[in-house]
Amino acid sequence: MSYFDKRKYSVEGLDLNGTKILFRAFRNLVYVDNPSNAAYQSMNIFVPEAFYHGQAINGYTLKTAPVFVPNTVGGYMPGPLDEPGFNKFKMGELNSIYRALEHGYVVAAPAIRGRCQFDENGLYTGKAPNCIVDYKAAIRYLHYFAEDLPGDDSKIITNGTSAGGCLSSLMGATGNHPDYDGYLSELGAAGAGDEIYAASCYCPIANMENAHTAYEWQFRGVHTYDSNFAGLRYIYGGRPDFESDKGTITGEQIRLSEELAAQFPAYINSLSLAGEQDAPLTLDTDGNGAFKDYIRRILAESAKAALGKGIDVFASPWVRNNGGGIEIDFDLWAKDIGRMKTPSAFDDIYAKGVENDLFGTAEGEVCHYTEYIKSISKTGAPLCDAERIKMMNPMEYVADGRAVKARFWRIRHGSRDRDTSLAISAILAGKLKEAGLSVDYHAPWGIPHAGDYDVSDLFQWIDSICRK
Ligand code: DHB
Repeated sequence: MSYFDKRKYSVEGLDLNGTKILFRAFRNLVYVDNPSNAAYQSMNIFVPEAFYHGQAINGYTLKTAPVFVPNTVGGYMPGPLDEPGFNKFKMGELNSIYRALEHGYVVAAPAIRGRCQFDENGLYTGKAPNCIVDYKAAIRYLHYFAEDLPGDDSKIITNGTSAGGCLSSLMGATGNHPDYDGYLSELGAAGAGDEIYAASCYCPIANMENAHTAYEWQFRGVHTYDSNFAGLRYIYGGRPDFESDKGTITGEQIRLSEELAAQFPAYINSLSLAGEQDAPLTLDTDGNGAFKDYIRRILAESAKAALGKGIDVFASPWVRNNGGGIEIDFDLWAKDIGRMKTPSAFDDIYAKGVENDLFGTAEGEVCHYTEYIKSISKTGAPLCDAERIKMMNPMEYVADGRAVKARFWRIRHGSRDRDTSLAISAILAGKLKEAGLSVDYHAPWGIPHAGDYDVSDLFQWIDSICRK
């Protein structure tokens, strides 16, 4: 582990898009004692230089600034170290690190191991749950060196998108939980806690062992697919083995879709998710009921917010004005946004999915992670052990008193996301609220699978919770 030496830094400046930042950079800090891949178990820490000259930015000082901890994980691939600069996905826009420094936050940007990496013995080092173990180790480092580190370590906010959004949600849901202790001590993580103050999660690919039934519940009537995804996963090389990009699902896939969709109500009903009324948000055997109405309300809220910004939401065939308010046609919505993945969208019967690789073994064997898909598998892929699956699912920890939860949550899941069902984030948000946590949840209008598209709003939210 790198000792945090506050005298070892460089002062650097950037002048991009007509704005200037001057910051102190502490680079390549290895955050564990026994790294398997030091480059991916390191972090960079950046601090507004003004803090060292007695100046405050937005009321924050060297001691009081929130610590923003974004990860760069996509597709459960390795998340490299990051820097202030341009946004990798949006030409010409500044990234969240640059903007956080401008705004007066301390930024700790850890690298995290991913599913494709292996060591000199050919053993894979970034299979589940190592990505979340690394994130935790990085946070432990921050708490351990809190005395010397810039910023307020009681105001740590994690941020991530997609797979990285799931990791941020895991940080928020599993603080200090003993399940991870064995992995953390093996890595030689710092002797401190890994609790955080707040979690910011964009389109989290969470709850993966229920995401395939959720996906078919949402897209069951949509038989064409288009996996020609733009942006994030492509750039990160999320699914290099993706074969076709467009087509119609086969008769066998339609039967599987129906089968999986039919399994979803039992899962929803097992959660007995509290609604605004007294009755829990359930589904009948056809997949209709109060839970579906909850998703419709989320979409109606999305449309309402867009309408307020002058967007003609009624141009979408699934949005109607029923006089009293906005009405959503769920099936038309699913058809309009379109199916990206074929059944089974997550645990894949050929074990070829991103997640089959994530849940694979150190020896490189891909694994199933649901009993049902394993039972109808077209391959001999084994089932991942239950503990590793559990450690990747924030839902498993929300009601567990041994996990220190983030008090504040901001979850964003675009209304046009096709990578995972809107139900997945809606369930997570619902359960977190039930646990008494403060959750700001919204499905921004017209947004596909993406993140960091509303950094000004994100920072406004961070300011509001940090000044409480
Ligand atoms: C990501 C996207 C997916 O569709 C998926 O299954 C896993 C990860 C991602 O973009 O991180």
